[in-house]
Amino acid sequence: MYNQQCAVCHGAGGNGKGPRGPEIAGRLWSWARSEGPGIFTDPNYMVQRNPSELTNAILDGYGMMPSYRGKLTTEQMNGLVDYIYTFFYKHPPIQ
Ligand code: HEC
Repeated sequence: MYNQQCAVCHGAGGNGKGPRGPEIAGRLWSWARSEGPGIFTDPNYMVQRNPSELTNAILDGYGMMPSYRGKLTTEQMNGLVDYIYTFFYKHPPIQ
């Protein structure tokens, strides 16, 4: 689902480097610093967001991102929000 609908902008790795990323990077995202709202690999942004805020951004649309209200089931929405968190969360190395 993410790869089909979201990766075009957000990138398959959540880093904002999807095919449409350059349009956005010119205006909003800083690839050099890998940061900005919608760059899910940026821990500084992600720790400031809670799941409801991310869900609302997807439902209502956010800046250059379209609204997905009515286009996704609750289950799909929850799955996407959970998935987004996996981009900045990394397991520590096992010693
Ligand atoms: C047309 C490009 C585009 C597509 C497609 C897109 N997004 Fe976004 N998304 C953005 C941009 C750009 C932002 C940042 C908007 C801003 O700050 O103005 C954003 C922001 C977000 C945010 C808020 C992040 C934050 O820091 O609060 C979430 C969550 C999100 N997108 C999830 C998704 C999901 C899930 C999908 C697929 C269902 C998706 N996006 C599809 C461009 C896109």
